[in-house]
Amino acid sequence: MLISSKIHDGISGNINIPGDKSISHRSIIISSISNGSCEVSNLLFSEDVIHTLNAFVSMGVKIEQFKDKIIIEGRGLNSLQKPLHNIYLGNSGTSARLLTGLLASQNFNTVLTGDKSLSKRPMKRITDPLKTMGGKFESQNNTLPLKIYGNKLNATEYELPIPSAQVKSGILFAALNTKGKTKILENNISRDHTEIMLKSFGANIECTKINDKSQIIISGESELFPKDISIPSDLSSAAFFIIAALINKNSSIKLENININPTRDGILRSLKLMGASINVYNKRTVNDEVVADLKVQSSKLRGCELDEKMSRLMIDEYPILSIAASFAETPSLFKGLKELKFKESNRLELIRINLDRCGVECSVSEDQLFINPKNRSAVKNNLIQTNFDHRIAMSFAVMGSKLDTNLKITDSDSIKTSFPNFIENYNQVGGNLIE
Ligand code: S3P
Repeated sequence: MLISSKIHDGISGNINIPGDKSISHRSIIISSISNGSCEVSNLLFSEDVIHTLNAFVSMGVKIEQFKDKIIIEGRGLNSLQKPLHNIYLGNSGTSARLLTGLLASQNFNTVLTGDKSLSKRPMKRITDPLKTMGGKFESQNNTLPLKIYGNKLNATEYELPIPSAQVKSGILFAALNTKGKTKILENNISRDHTEIMLKSFGANIECTKINDKSQIIISGESELFPKDISIPSDLSSAAFFIIAALINKNSSIKLENININPTRDGILRSLKLMGASINVYNKRTVNDEVVADLKVQSSKLRGCELDEKMSRLMIDEYPILSIAASFAETPSLFKGLKELKFKESNRLELIRINLDRCGVECSVSEDQLFINPKNRSAVKNNLIQTNFDHRIAMSFAVMGSKLDTNLKITDSDSIKTSFPNFIENYNQVGGNLIE
């Protein structure tokens, strides 16, 4: 249980945001099947990423840790070995979807398992496209535990019915070890870290973006050359601090080396619309990913209306954006949030339940969320229900900084899945959290 209390004098200082979670998973996977030794720095050592790392160790990949770096000895596309046991992935949906693709094209069988929350999340979205390539799977209700029958696959052409970078990446990992050209069509662009990293490792991959659509063609069975990777800091983790600074008076913070990949920067775009004072400077490219430093100051926010397209660029940030909207001067309406129902929890529902407990008027209608900050009342119930969802827990930790009543955040251990030092970092800059 985490107790979050009011902050009286803002937050200020420099905050070290940990490595990007999406890029950390991909760096382990791609280095492990490359053809040599790769040094990875600023890897996120959170539970989710450690599950991916342990999966590759269990498949015979040599991974060594030196202070803040890891060295991964890749031995090629077909070098993975059958693990002795089932692969346990904890809470990590990214590990589950990406590994399902990679393992479907290996020459051994595996079983993926996960915690209570991951075992409820849909896997059909990744097994369906892989089945069109000849992939074979066994599971009850299309959830984990999932048995993957490793198999030679066929190249395919697949149009993604839902916008999902996890599904797209799973297909790309299956296609890597598959003869011929696989084509993926996206009607809505999703984060492109996999394409960027595969290209930098020499994969035969062509990506074309036309407005909101993208087409990716990858030719399989071509070698990946080893590369060192420096992982930028995670904008999704930075968002908790950005919004804490914006909504609390007398705040001023600096965040360095933040990944602002344009397929992922919706939170910055939305906050700009809301009138936030965020200075993005020192823009540069590191390992083909755009990074920048950010300076954020307390701001008077106004509400905004965001359409479905924006949800592609910031799907993980709606819980914390809802906290910003709760302290804006005018109402907000966020549209196209269906995918929020399939995350670590049903986030749309938990945002509604918990904002209501905090006295914020809000409503959900189908896939839309409406927040009216004008009718805020006193806290009705100070117990925050998180269903072991790290982003709900951290978002309401930030909510507590503005309320007269302490919030009690249940199952807050989930924070370790993505941001193990969150509480320490938050308190260092003036936050008020007690475990
Ligand atoms: C992720 C993609 C997103 C995101 C998740 C990480 C990734 O999921 O919500 O936290 O690393 O590819 P979907 O692609 O399923 O929307």
